Amino acid sequence: MEKALDSKKLGRVFSGIQPSGSQVHIGNYLGAMRRFVRLSKLSETIVCIVDLHALTSVEKREELEKNSQSLAAAYLAIGLDPEEVVIFRQSDVPAVCELSWYLACQFPLGLLERAHSFKDARAKNESVNAGRMFYPILMAADILLYRGNSVPVGADQKQHLEMTREIAQRFNHRFGQVFPIPEPLIEDATGVIPGLDGRKMSKSYDNYIGLFEAPKRVRKKIMKIVTDSKAVEEAKDPDECHVFALYKLFAGEDECEALAERYRAGGMGYGEAKQELFEAMEREIAPLRESYESWISRPDDLRDILKAGAGRARVIAEETMVQVRDAIGVGAVL
Ligand code: TRP
Repeated sequence: MEKALDSKKLGRVFSGIQPSGSQVHIGNYLGAMRRFVRLSKLSETIVCIVDLHALTSVEKREELEKNSQSLAAAYLAIGLDPEEVVIFRQSDVPAVCELSWYLACQFPLGLLERAHSFKDARAKNESVNAGRMFYPILMAADILLYRGNSVPVGADQKQHLEMTREIAQRFNHRFGQVFPIPEPLIEDATGVIPGLDGRKMSKSYDNYIGLFEAPKRVRKKIMKIVTDSKAVEEAKDPDECHVFALYKLFAGEDECEALAERYRAGGMGYGEAKQELFEAMEREIAPLRESYESWISRPDDLRDILKAGAGRARVIAEETMVQVRDAIGVGAVL
């Protein structure tokens, strides 16, 4: 998809990932992060570690810090160049909280009640803190504060992006043209990334493969991916198989065709397909894992990069906030 995009159309790319787990998983990588690298070569790109969002679920400060550090190392390990890309921690620019309030006062409550993420939490009877409900407002504030034009996200974030667009339009309508209306970049071909049990790969289902997990563990997990119970000699349908769905995201076209052929011909057990998947994954991930280990062992360098990123982010944020405060009529405008 990105091949068809040029930097003029993309404008400023902005995206964020929550540091809500101890490590990112291959669902995050395939669904969003891998694209950040490609987009960053085409256009100005800002990536955020959205630790304020993670506060809706992470309670311990050590955990929040460790997760944020790990995500910073992950962004760098996958190949984002900190000279080019602004990489920063959301909480380092508190203006996002101020903007959230202004947006909240424009946000219809009904819109928030309809958010899938909130409804899911309610349905599961989880204790729902008010932050969970406020979540889409904070996300809109991220995107609008940094005047992001293009927002690469996984398919599950589509509704949040629609809310952001809606609220930006309302704000502009009431106060004048302050915000660009952001475009979601959702790569349909990637679709939903299956986890070990075939459901969407997610931290909350505990069915994920960590992006930087040790190869031995990765292999063990891959061997656990659920398949049907067809015997080795039977012909199999690659398009019905979660192993193949993951394989497609790591292997080239010819390789996919070759493996699909082996599925259809019969005589291949799922164990063999899993081994192929493991090898294709390792080919791509092994060098990233090495880079991740190297970054994580240098916390001072990580801190310096985040600090520099926050400095650059703050300049953009302040420009926006001057306009926003003036448009609304708050602050030093009397
Ligand atoms: N809600 C997003 C997710 O869970 C994370 C996020 C927060 C985000 N702020 C953002 C994504 C701004 C894109 C842009 O994946």
